[in-house]
Amino acid sequence: MPDVLGNPSLRKVLLVGAGILAGVATFVVADVLHDNHTKATTAMALTTGDAARAPAIFRRYGCSGCHAIPGIPGADGVVGAPLSDFTRRVYIAGVLKNNSDNLVTWIVSPQQVSPQSAMPDTGISPQEAKDLAAYLYAH
Ligand code: HEC
Repeated sequence: MPDVLGNPSLRKVLLVGAGILAGVATFVVADVLHDNHTKATTAMALTTGDAARAPAIFRRYGCSGCHAIPGIPGADGVVGAPLSDFTRRVYIAGVLKNNSDNLVTWIVSPQQVSPQSAMPDTGISPQEAKDLAAYLYAH
């Protein structure tokens, strides 16, 4: 049995291989982090809201009692649809085109948009709704 690590040229090949693998792993991790960071930054720029304030607001206005919301512990309501994948949706509540202004409009006054909807006006302010929109577009 030849001593693989004792062979200088084989050792070099192994070292280069390990180096490439480490480089690829670093690149993948950096890319994922960069992607999440970009998503959050873009969402904040788009909505002028602050996603960091959203978890408390979701609870204060009862959103989490009616909706499952990704990343919000205890938000497991099933009255409305889960509030996920907002960057990929075409419509909001099936009636408004999905964009940041319309999402805020819906969150503030769903009854004005869809009077028959089971979602009530909650009394949330437009600024708070922007914070929620920033969160929803970032997750
Ligand atoms: C009493 C239950 C209830 C509460 C409270 C409630 N919702 Fe809803 N929500 C609904 C229902 C039902 C729908 C579906 C409405 C429709 O399609 O007409 C809905 C729809 C939505 C939609 C559109 C979802 C989609 O799939 O397009 C968003 C966004 C939303 N709600 C956000 C919120 C936010 C944010 C809050 C808190 C400020 C909240 N909701 C509070 C019941 C509720």
